Amino acid sequence: MSCAARAAVRSLWRLRAGTLRPLTAYGRRIGVRFYSSGMTLDNVNRAAVDRIIRVDHAGEYGANRIYAGQMAVLGRTSVGPVIQKMWDQEKDHLKKFNELMVAFRVRPTILMPFWNVVGFALGAGTALLGKEGAMACTVAVEESIAHHYNNQIRTLMEKDPEKYEELLQVIRKFRDEELEHHDIGLEHDAQLVSIAQASCLKAASTETSG
Ligand SMILES: [Fe+2]
Ligand SMILES: [Fe+2]
Repeated sequence: MSCAARAAVRSLWRLRAGTLRPLTAYGRRIGVRFYSSGMTLDNVNRAAVDRIIRVDHAGEYGANRIYAGQMAVLGRTSVGPVIQKMWDQEKDHLKKFNELMVAFRVRPTILMPFWNVVGFALGAGTALLGKEGAMACTVAVEESIAHHYNNQIRTLMEKDPEKYEELLQVIRKFRDEELEHHDIGLEHDAQLVSIAQASCLKAASTETSG
């Protein structure tokens, strides 16, 4: 992986994995309505929810671009359907966060055009190494995402699990699906990629998740 791609994925997951600021750091509290259920959440901490939705939306957008890049290279190979299936789930994840962005009136990150290009380049670049390279990238990235979602779940559970129940359900579901993608990557020979390459990808994702 090029230095540029490594730096890009590092930046992407740093954005995704940013820790929540203390809920008490923001005084603005409003009532909002969840898109899916129509449930109104009074007194949610707007800043905390804004941040979760913004970074998750950016991460899911980046994941979509990574899979798009992988499909551009490997779409007609034997692993094409496998990658397409994971991409379809990422499309659902992004769709849900698009809905939440509207429901909560959250602005997307201004870096979306950047992730558009860099995500695709990362996906295509690793796929050019072969299906093992693509799957190694998937394993590293999905592991980082699942870790990130787990941190958010822990934070929301500590704050008020009842108040954030619907958001928790969304994040838990997506976390489970990211872990499935991780396991699919392993099942498709991600471990056969060179140790150096795997270490590089692992380091990039780990550094940015914590
Ligand atoms: Fe996802
Ligand atoms: Fe995923």
